[in-house]
Amino acid sequence: MVKMMSVCAMGAVAAAGCSCDRAAKDFGTTKYGEAAHLYVLEGKGGLKMEVTDYGGRVNRLWVPDAKGELVDVTIGFDSPAGWETTDSYFGAIIGRYGNRIANGTFTLEGKTYTLAQNDADHHANLHGGKRGWDGYVWDAKPFTKGDDVGIVFSRVSPDGEEGFPGTVKATVTYTITPENVWRIEYEGTTDKTTPLNMTQHVYFNLDGSDTILDQELQIAASKYSPVNADLAPVGPAADVAGTPFDFRTFQVIGARIDDPDTVLQYGPGYDHNWVLDGAGFRKVAEMRGKTRAMEVWTDQIGLQFYAGNFIKDSWKMKDARPMKRRGYLALETQHFPNTPNRPDFPTTNLKPGETYRTVTEYRFKTR
Ligand code: GLA
Repeated sequence: MVKMMSVCAMGAVAAAGCSCDRAAKDFGTTKYGEAAHLYVLEGKGGLKMEVTDYGGRVNRLWVPDAKGELVDVTIGFDSPAGWETTDSYFGAIIGRYGNRIANGTFTLEGKTYTLAQNDADHHANLHGGKRGWDGYVWDAKPFTKGDDVGIVFSRVSPDGEEGFPGTVKATVTYTITPENVWRIEYEGTTDKTTPLNMTQHVYFNLDGSDTILDQELQIAASKYSPVNADLAPVGPAADVAGTPFDFRTFQVIGARIDDPDTVLQYGPGYDHNWVLDGAGFRKVAEMRGKTRAMEVWTDQIGLQFYAGNFIKDSWKMKDARPMKRRGYLALETQHFPNTPNRPDFPTTNLKPGETYRTVTEYRFKTR
């Protein structure tokens, strides 16, 4: 199918609102039969992103170092089948509920809702269900605003989708600034009360190497959420002090990842929620590679640090590049896992008339 944008790229027709340098390229068809496209967002500072409207996935993310050398720091594929045969969450927008809802069930306003338990080993509903928001081609509108470039993704999630109540209208805006910041702004409204906990499941390896274990991480969190074997938070938040979860100062990621700590072993390895210190939009984490670093800024209260423990060495990605267990990590800003079953956690319920809004930035630097 020829899209208006590719006509624009050939210079024949200037479609309204079309930016020719960010014309959509065909990216094949998803397993659900939808046509997917690729867009390129090139920032003035060198940060460059290739992104698909299939789940808003970041497919390539080129980050400059001080010499201007660009390295693609993320996982991606040559076609939609790549995600469909490995892990569909790589680089994707996650909704309606990022992370786990224990036993795939929750009660809201007196009614019990049953969701798919699509996280087999953990008896949970994970990242929205069997076909979460990553499974749809979103409406995509590239834009230029001053020196910023970006893209607005939007979709309507119908009432009852994956068992969740209410029609949710969601918008996710990616902006690349000349300072090499990737800003993600999430918005949502609903017509019935529903849990909403959106996030972005991008993965990083700042050296573009095959391991993150020699890279460093700092997380501004004095507490984390201990979990059971199903990776559902149990009890109150616990102090990170004296545990392998203490990242208040920079730590080499591989140094304690196989520590015998029982809660860590449930991962196995890091796959937990950190209860972030402070409030409001603030810096919450920093990752360091050899010549590049990345700060994470957010207004969220939680951060899931997942060390890629389930990535399989046998999986193949774009450009015949290696993909190894713990070769990439995810730092997912969000509310706490299983909040719909934890009245003691800050709520994730969105009510009609309210607007869900949250912002996260990944700020890239050289070192
Ligand atoms: C989240 C989960 C992990 C894993 C990844 C996707 O980070 O916490 O256990 O499921 O998503 O593979």
